[in-house]
Amino acid sequence: MNVLVVGTGYVGLVTGLCFAKLGHNVICVDKDVHKINALRNGKVPIYEPGLQDLLVEQLGARSISFVEVVPESTKADVAVIAVGTPALPSGEADLSAVYAVVTELACTLPAQALVAIKSTVPVGTAQRIKDRMVRVGRSDLHVASVPEFLREGSAVYDVFHPYRLVFGVMDSRSVAVLRTLHAGLDAPVVVTDPASAEMIKYASNAFLATKISFINEIANICGCVGADVTQVAYGMGLDPRIGPAFLRAGLGYGGSCFPKDTRALVNLAGENGYDFQLLRAVVEVNQRQRLAPIIRLREEFGSLRDKVVTLLGVAFKPGTDDVRESPAIDLCKALHTEGARVRLCDPVVTNVDQYLPDAPVVIKDPYKALDGADAAVLVTEWPEFLRLDWARAATLMRHPYVFDGRNVFEPSQMRSKGLLLANIGGRGHDAIPHVMV
Ligand code: UDX
Repeated sequence: MNVLVVGTGYVGLVTGLCFAKLGHNVICVDKDVHKINALRNGKVPIYEPGLQDLLVEQLGARSISFVEVVPESTKADVAVIAVGTPALPSGEADLSAVYAVVTELACTLPAQALVAIKSTVPVGTAQRIKDRMVRVGRSDLHVASVPEFLREGSAVYDVFHPYRLVFGVMDSRSVAVLRTLHAGLDAPVVVTDPASAEMIKYASNAFLATKISFINEIANICGCVGADVTQVAYGMGLDPRIGPAFLRAGLGYGGSCFPKDTRALVNLAGENGYDFQLLRAVVEVNQRQRLAPIIRLREEFGSLRDKVVTLLGVAFKPGTDDVRESPAIDLCKALHTEGARVRLCDPVVTNVDQYLPDAPVVIKDPYKALDGADAAVLVTEWPEFLRLDWARAATLMRHPYVFDGRNVFEPSQMRSKGLLLANIGGRGHDAIPHVMV
């Protein structure tokens, strides 16, 4: 099939390359000239495992090309919309980029083409796009909601191994087109109406976010009553009705999806006169959880004024250079307010100037970042930090205090290396070896 993908962010680029790999002819469009030039030259502008090799391979196979504007007369069978839908201050999703693309597609797509919406959009958007197409005389175009569930850091794997495909369609022709587009992927297919498809995406992310905030609340109670949250999560997760995934207590969720989508769903409910109490609490708990280390640092030092605090990890999770809504950003701001001197350390992220006023430089070498520090907070569980020679780190630090914000260190091991270890949820003793997902 001839496939047009508009937007080359995480979702668009990964989707475009994977469709090319599945045998389609793909044209990716992005108005960012620098990005398009980089991609044409075989350079992926983001850090995502496997993506660079896939780009080089598909450019070599001539199955993908990159352009700055939607070509005037495309032969596209399918146009995938994958532009950003950032949250407005109200929490509402900003759809201006989506509608700008819709206007362009109305002028350029051939008869009977399918517009597949992959951007996460409020429930009802696919129908509104269809109505707009009809108003501008393009009632021949088909519109469907085809939400994406890929995770940063394993995005390519996730596209090729989906848990499910969701097709939110208005007619049977669209189902046939989408089946051909996804031929070669082995997954259950949910064929439904567009509104339900849009809701599946929001509800899935909101539910996973709820699991995380729930276990973080349990962790905080564990800390008070002498229980160990990693043991508790393990014991809970063995019940298949609960499952072990997304029960890792820590500094809360970040990234480009969970924070934005949970707020958008709260907002969507509110606009429809419904108070989504539970999800509001999930968002609040997540915000509070990020600052958990500050309370412990205050207990350790009293005032944090002029204390040197190293944040180990800036990316919102390992395996990505994405710092959007990363706990590290909020922690850095809060520590600055306390008068602390913050050092940022990350193996992949190079700067955060866009997200932080007076952002400290990001140090790559953890030993350098820990040298002379009064405290360290593990924010992102990068393997580089887990493999560190912590005995050496303890001798470098002025005060060897480590707050393990992801509960990944074995407390007794760290203590035997001369570190003062604190963590989330009372993990004071070593866990009995077990498998956590
Ligand atoms: C998520 C969804 O998983 C994906 O399906 C959706 O399409 C986009 O949003 P992503 O944001 O890439 O993907 O990351 P994910 O691996 O899901 O983690 C999200 C956040 O939750 C991270 O900040 C992570 O550290 C945190 N998390 C995850 C926890 O704190 N505990 C857990 O147990 C799991």
